[in-house]
Amino acid sequence: MAAAGEVTEGLIDLGDAATLRDGGTGIRFDLLAGAEPATGFVIRHRGAVHGYLNRCAHVAMELDWQPGEFFDFDREFLICATHGALYEPASGACAGGPCAGHGDLQRLDVFERDGRIYWRPDAFARARSGSASKENTVG
Ligand code: FES
Repeated sequence: MAAAGEVTEGLIDLGDAATLRDGGTGIRFDLLAGAEPATGFVIRHRGAVHGYLNRCAHVAMELDWQPGEFFDFDREFLICATHGALYEPASGACAGGPCAGHGDLQRLDVFERDGRIYWRPDAFARARSGSASKENTVG
């Protein structure tokens, strides 16, 4: 059975897909964005999983207001805790607030397979040891 953090075929196992509830707590994980240590996250929205670099387009700050908490009160948008920028959960597009004119969230290649969530690193967002975060096992 796969375990979080396990690397198979260049994919990083981020954990049990069943723990990722629609509009609920996301899964954070460590990565390298270029050469910089950073985090990424995965959320579920309307049944589908979506992953992004955890970096606001307004100022390079992490979005979550508590570890793994990315959704706004209505569970409709992703919200940046610093100044309240809103992003579309399915695309990462800026949906209003301070991100306007600054761009969108950077997508990560994540998907669900056989009950697990996987991330496929790329040339920019690369794995670093311990990529699967143990700090927010969703439940
Ligand atoms: S840093 Fe995210 S809204 Fe300003």
